[in-house]
Amino acid sequence: MNTAPAAPVLTVTPNTALDRCLLVPDFALGKTVVAKDATLAMAGKPADASLVLARLGVPSIATGLIGGKSGARMVRMLERDGVDCRFLRCPGRTRVNAVIIKEGTGLQGTVTVPSLHPRQEDGERLLEHVRSLLPGRRWLVLGGSLPEGVAPDLYVRMIEAAHEHGVRSLLDASGQTLLNGLPARPAIIKPNQVELGAALGRTLRTPVEVVDAARQLCGERGLEVVVVTLGAEGSICVTPTEAWRIPPVPVEVINTAGAGDAFGAGLIKGLLEGLALPEALAWGTAAASAVLLTLGTADCRPEDVTRLLPRVRVEPIV
Ligand SMILES: Nc1ncnc2c1ncn2[C@@H]1O[C@H](COP(=O)(O)OP(=O)(O)OP(=O)(O)O)[C@@H](O)[C@H]1O
Ligand SMILES: [Mg+2]
Repeated sequence: MNTAPAAPVLTVTPNTALDRCLLVPDFALGKTVVAKDATLAMAGKPADASLVLARLGVPSIATGLIGGKSGARMVRMLERDGVDCRFLRCPGRTRVNAVIIKEGTGLQGTVTVPSLHPRQEDGERLLEHVRSLLPGRRWLVLGGSLPEGVAPDLYVRMIEAAHEHGVRSLLDASGQTLLNGLPARPAIIKPNQVELGAALGRTLRTPVEVVDAARQLCGERGLEVVVVTLGAEGSICVTPTEAWRIPPVPVEVINTAGAGDAFGAGLIKGLLEGLALPEALAWGTAAASAVLLTLGTADCRPEDVTRLLPRVRVEPIV
């Protein structure tokens, strides 16, 4: 008999990836440097969320498209943390990005590479697979780029399918991919400042401009919750009636990649526990801050999350 608790969360990563994270003293083209530290870590926003949820004790099912040995490797990494993996194979390979972090500077950059080559039918197969995995879930987490080849309206149809099963959705995407998902009214969208600006076709410079843009989206698109992460400036959350600013928690930052994905995971953990939105936002911020402390993308220690949680302040914006 299977006594495992039913997973309340389904994450969908159409464009799977791993990050090779390299901590270097210096970096320039034409030079050879020895990394101080290196690790292979999860990447792909929803897969990152599955990993962080697992660290926070929340079971999830992870699906998406994978290819090649790197795809199998990614699945093994998630399974090691107890994530229930149900990925589908397609042509091409799960990409392995390079994340180069210059030690002690707060500077980092990512080199991403060509990856999966799904056919349109692989996207449709994934949609049907998601439909079959939705019953019994409470949250669908989806996002990141869509690999070339799949239909651009894949997210909107997945969110609509989630509605049919009474499952709420968190969409974390950028630009047109984010806009394409909005007609299905995901319960939460969670872009960062640049991604929200890309969706609205303008650069958002200040927190005030971000609040205005998030309010505009809430009003025009009928969204319940818009969370915008601002990197070292913290984050902002807007609902049709309220708004909060969450200042960053000062911590020793090693690698910021995956912090936003951890934010979504922490937020969902809080909401699953029945917390009010401000308390759930505090969980999101604590999880994001814990990811900053490790070299691996979306890697965090649960004890760091619980240690940082009381240090988070969620301030109403009036
Ligand atoms: N340099 C930093 N100092 C303190 N807190 C930070 C820093 N960078 C990120 N954070 C925290 O992490 C949260 C999410 O960060 P960020 O806005 O970088 O997400 P993101 O761009 O979506 O990242 P990703 O997509 O790689 O997961 C922020 O709201 C903030 O609380
Ligand atoms: Mg993000």
